[in-house]
Amino acid sequence: MAEIQPLVAGNWKMNGTQESLGEIRAMCERAARIGARPHLMICPPATLISRVKGLVAASPIQVGAQDCHTAERGAHTGDISAEMLKDAGASAVIVGHSERRGDHGESDALVRAKALAAHRAGLIAIICIGETEGQRRYELTLPVLGRQVRASVPESATAANTIIAYEPVWAIGTGLTPTTDDVAEAHAFIRQTLAEHLGEEAAGGMRILYGGSVKPANAAELMSVANVNGALVGGASLKAEDFFGIVAAYGSA
Ligand code: 13P
Repeated sequence: MAEIQPLVAGNWKMNGTQESLGEIRAMCERAARIGARPHLMICPPATLISRVKGLVAASPIQVGAQDCHTAERGAHTGDISAEMLKDAGASAVIVGHSERRGDHGESDALVRAKALAAHRAGLIAIICIGETEGQRRYELTLPVLGRQVRASVPESATAANTIIAYEPVWAIGTGLTPTTDDVAEAHAFIRQTLAEHLGEEAAGGMRILYGGSVKPANAAELMSVANVNGALVGGASLKAEDFFGIVAAYGSA
């Protein structure tokens, strides 16, 4: 099995206007100075995708989106299709982020349909899973992750078209993180469940990112955990300095 290329991806969530493009320029400068490891991606709000794509054209930074509709086109006011995101310059799209599962009541079935839409459009689907604080308290973390993997990840997913992001809901934006033992247990369990669901080949090469309060100060520790193939970073991806402080966990920033 070839070594998995790690990915550090930034999810800007509902943050960023044209004023923020200076950070993208700064990221391009930083990215130009590092080698091939790790892969880098920024997922700005949809309004900035084409602007960001223009700025990163000569840099290794890829552009992702944060959500898509399941349909290719049609009467869905306010929604954006995966094909439109691709057209705007995205190469990936996050689906099933806990903020969408929570704020918009998105089910595993809908997340699965969105992942299939991403694949249809030729986008990588970054499928988010993670337990809530209450589920963790009742020791339901692994059962919840197992259910989410089986129900949110389409059986046709491959290591090339799909990335999993494990984001414990209680760790997002809180400054709290699981212990490295907990992260190791969750990621090993996710890979095992993927193997049962998709087969060894797809599961063995699939990137499983950790997300939830990743900062420059804890990135090296979290990124060194077995089966952690990179990070999905929220708040600390808004500034080039912080984002590359995390990238530095791979010894190349
Ligand atoms: P924070 O890094 O701000 O905790 O957010 C994580 C996240 O939700 C990334 O998708």
